[in-house]
Amino acid sequence: MFKVDLGRGAELRPLEPWQAEEFLAHMDRARAFVDPWIAWASRSTTLQTARKTLQRYADLQARGEGRILGIWLDGVLVGGVMAFNFDAYADACEIGCWLEPAGTGRGLITQASARLIDWLVTERAVHRVEWHCRPDNVASSGVARRLGMTHEGTLRANFPWQGVRHDSQVWAVLAPEWSARKDSQSPGGAKSQSSGHEGSQLSGGAESQSSGREGSQLSGGAESQSPGPEGSQLSGLEESSGPRA
Ligand SMILES: CC(C)(COP(=O)(O)OP(=O)(O)OC[C@H]1O[C@@H](n2cnc3c(N)ncnc32)[C@H](O)[C@@H]1OP(=O)(O)O)[C@@H](O)C(=O)NCCC(=O)NCCS
Repeated sequence: MFKVDLGRGAELRPLEPWQAEEFLAHMDRARAFVDPWIAWASRSTTLQTARKTLQRYADLQARGEGRILGIWLDGVLVGGVMAFNFDAYADACEIGCWLEPAGTGRGLITQASARLIDWLVTERAVHRVEWHCRPDNVASSGVARRLGMTHEGTLRANFPWQGVRHDSQVWAVLAPEWSARKDSQSPGGAKSQSSGHEGSQLSGGAESQSSGREGSQLSGGAESQSPGPEGSQLSGLEESSGPRA
């Protein structure tokens, strides 16, 4: 099965509708922690609604407009990362993330997000990867900072949560910045030698070919079907941007 080894017992893998039961059990552990920052946590409360959340991302992926990946730590689903709000005109998209408390403080999201950004920049030719978070979500802005993103500004009162409207910070990294960062972090500075958590892609590499019982390679989803940023749809996604992902 497709997976990326994040080290120390952690793996990044596709998260799909058939895993709704596992996702729901994880959400039950994560919901209180995640809910203030991501809207779908409070909408994934039953097997049906958990499956609906994953199906929504599966549909986005089939259209080349999104992707969700789970993070397993010692075989337990503890969080994930996702890409959404693809803008074909601007070659831009947004990424988001979440963890249950047991997964925090290990750098899992920084690593997983780096993998996702790398795939977006190198495979999907995305020029601008955004990260939206509430100003009081310092754990989230800490990840954006560690990823080398720039805080570009703050959207005022665009995230309503429990009757209160919150601001959203917009962070972003541009493709040339990401490439330069990879070069500076890879041994010898050569692009081809990228390694570590900043370096590799979510498709096609050796890491994606680990065998499962089925023996089949299950990747080749959005990345193989996607028409590239030029071909993907713009807005109009059911998902809204920012912390609401
Ligand atoms: C946002 C969230 C995912 C960040 O979790 P996190 O554990 O801080 O992020 P990471 O997985 O990147 O780990 C970073 C932490 O691990 C530490 N760490 C350990 N090893 C590390 C490594 N190899 N690389 C990077 N950080 C490492 C870092 O020092 C940092 O800890 P610190 O904040 O105490 O300094 C988490 O707080 C969360 O799920 N919040 C609720 C949902 C949410 O807010 N989502 C984002 C919406 S915008």
